[in-house]
Amino acid sequence: MSKMQFRIAQNVWKNINGSGQYLHRNFFQLNKRDKGKWELIRRAGKVSDERIVPEHIQKPPYYLKHMAAGNTLGTPEIKNVEQLEHMRSSGKLAAQILRECGNMAKIGITTDEIDDFAHSRILSHNAYPSPLRYAGFPKSVCTSINNVACHGIPDDRQLVDGDIINIDVTVYQNGFHGDCSETFLIGDVDERGRFLVDSTRECLKNCIALCGPGVPFNKIGKFIQRFCHEHKLESVAAFIGHGIGSYFHGPPEIYHYDNDDPGEMQAGMTFTIEPILSLGGGDIGLLEDGWTAVSMDDSRSAQFEHTILITETGVEILTNAD
Ligand code: MF3
Ligand code: CO
Ligand code: CO
Repeated sequence: MSKMQFRIAQNVWKNINGSGQYLHRNFFQLNKRDKGKWELIRRAGKVSDERIVPEHIQKPPYYLKHMAAGNTLGTPEIKNVEQLEHMRSSGKLAAQILRECGNMAKIGITTDEIDDFAHSRILSHNAYPSPLRYAGFPKSVCTSINNVACHGIPDDRQLVDGDIINIDVTVYQNGFHGDCSETFLIGDVDERGRFLVDSTRECLKNCIALCGPGVPFNKIGKFIQRFCHEHKLESVAAFIGHGIGSYFHGPPEIYHYDNDDPGEMQAGMTFTIEPILSLGGGDIGLLEDGWTAVSMDDSRSAQFEHTILITETGVEILTNAD
């Protein structure tokens, strides 16, 4: 069990079942609320060999030495002007690569081909694909389809008509990470699927609009909880937003559900917001690869993510492509 999984497991323990046990899939409790024309992901496919990163690319510390996922507890860093310049360029690059990946995500393309494309595009900007070897992750982006909530590993499965796919791109450039994701529609997606994706996009947008100096972090989670209630969706609580900088994951923790976290946003903080909303239940389990997080009730979920900066007057989205 890698530390990243441990991080997830801790959250599962704390926030979902409280029993100290990993959740196990129960194939007899299939979700009845998300019936439609789409393909259930039951197992991981074939994962290709690790891609090469040339000598001249600056690599994060975990490339050479296996490390646990970053610790997200503690005091959030306040970044200076120079750090923020690097955060801006990493964020912009991540957003540009994500857009390119979205454009190539079409019926018949495999997620491994998306990974290959993202990998080489990131390298061409003298940047490193942050997921690669992070807590042992084997690929350069995460691709999560239909009932996969997040951390899907790119493999040989071809995209099919009706899929929804989240592509999560994080790049490491000049010593700083930028992290963003979007859920894309493949071909003809049914009405519930489109509703889910549109709602989740809107949810993140509204979360960001709430942010600014002096705002409690828990305002985000409180909003998401209300939004989900109104839209008859459920938030996947096991996965949190996170501080980001020279580290992939650091303080603060951003909970995507109602909570009473005492912290407040301050100018100079950079963190992600990345809600995962589900058409069914919010419980997840992991496939045998230890990464792929699937819904326990086979319902679909969608996710959107931005890296943001709290400014003196409000908020700036760092992962905008232009
Ligand atoms: N990009 C993901 C996030 O939003 C983290 C992926 S970790 C990996 O936090 F190891 F799976 F890449
Ligand atoms: Co993130
Ligand atoms: Co991400």
